[in-house]
Amino acid sequence: MTQASAPGKAILFGEHAVVYDQPALAVPLSTLRTTAHIKATDAVQPTIKVIASDIRQSFWLHERDDRDPLAYAIRLTLKEIEAEVDAPFEIRISSDIPIAAGLGSGAATSIALIRVLAAYFNVALGDRIISEIAFKVEKLYHGTPSGIDNNVITYEQPLYYKRGEDPIPFTLGTPLHLVLGHSGVSSQTGTVVNAVRERWLASTSEYDAIFLQIGSLVDLAYRALKAGKLETIGSLMNENHSLLQQMGVSVDALDIMVDYARSAGAYGAKLSGAGAGGFMIALVDPQIGDGVAQAIQDAGAHHILSVKVGI
Ligand code: PMV
Repeated sequence: MTQASAPGKAILFGEHAVVYDQPALAVPLSTLRTTAHIKATDAVQPTIKVIASDIRQSFWLHERDDRDPLAYAIRLTLKEIEAEVDAPFEIRISSDIPIAAGLGSGAATSIALIRVLAAYFNVALGDRIISEIAFKVEKLYHGTPSGIDNNVITYEQPLYYKRGEDPIPFTLGTPLHLVLGHSGVSSQTGTVVNAVRERWLASTSEYDAIFLQIGSLVDLAYRALKAGKLETIGSLMNENHSLLQQMGVSVDALDIMVDYARSAGAYGAKLSGAGAGGFMIALVDPQIGDGVAQAIQDAGAHHILSVKVGI
């Protein structure tokens, strides 16, 4: 049996603005993972079976074309590693990353698949190529991805990321304790990104000004994250959330959880990812983590996760 996995991720700062060439900051969530296993089977033909139990899918690879993200990730990888599939095998995928929630489940699935196939065929694939293959699959999921998800999940390190530039991995000055609350609404990144694009086209200078403000805030946050200045990071998260509200990507369910988290003493809180649903994140002192989690629960969260990022 061959196995590989990839983490989830959270965007700490800069979502949406990153699509418009502003920088963004994201961290891997290493305790939430998608895992892929491969084992040889005794099917008569050299076929590949794919079983993704969390999304209730089970299919033979040849039954799906390249519009299917799992099939596409597998075919791109087999092509990249020039694999000769002359014996049947089965790929099983399981995940503890919530789906359609802004935590990178799509990219983590692609990356776990790419890594497990490379390992099964004994080919060493570099991170850059892994991230590039996953980026191609991300385009199927949501049209014009910035590339932040495939990069932070491949490198599994905090990243300062700007579209079209090499990502800059960095070390956090102090670990981050995050409490994440799910709004109960699933969110399709592509739909939200397209809605922002429509509004940007209608009010370009207003939106450009918001993106620019987010870009400056990201640069401040980058310094604060490296220096471990939790108060500063928290208040920048609050500022970023209000700019996301101005962009029209927050919803009441997220705003209420954000408010409750701040009232319970979080350093700061904001939505994370595309918005319009999905998760919010709160940065907390671990001593009050349970209290903040309870407050987010009281605010109507459908699902709460507490994670520590960095050593
Ligand atoms: O895929 P999500 O929901 O984590 O959000 C992606 C972040 C956006 O900036 C909105 C889109 C992108 O491609 O960067």
